Amino acid sequence: MYVCICNNVTERDIEQAVRDGARTVDCLADRLAVSTCCGQCRCYAEESLQSALGALDGSEELPLAVAV
Ligand code: FES
Repeated sequence: MYVCICNNVTERDIEQAVRDGARTVDCLADRLAVSTCCGQCRCYAEESLQSALGALDGSEELPLAVAV
């Protein structure tokens, strides 16, 4: 489903950007240009971001310890 019509950004694009490290709407704007034209999609972009981040929880491997 399209999130940003102006820039042809879909939910899948946002999910991939989150897997690649995006954590804020501003970061999505830098990477995908979402919400950089009319701005009408910003709230939906935020919802899509939060959904993608929620899906990422538990699947992202984090180091259990850091060597010093
Ligand atoms: S719909 Fe996203 S900037 Fe216009």
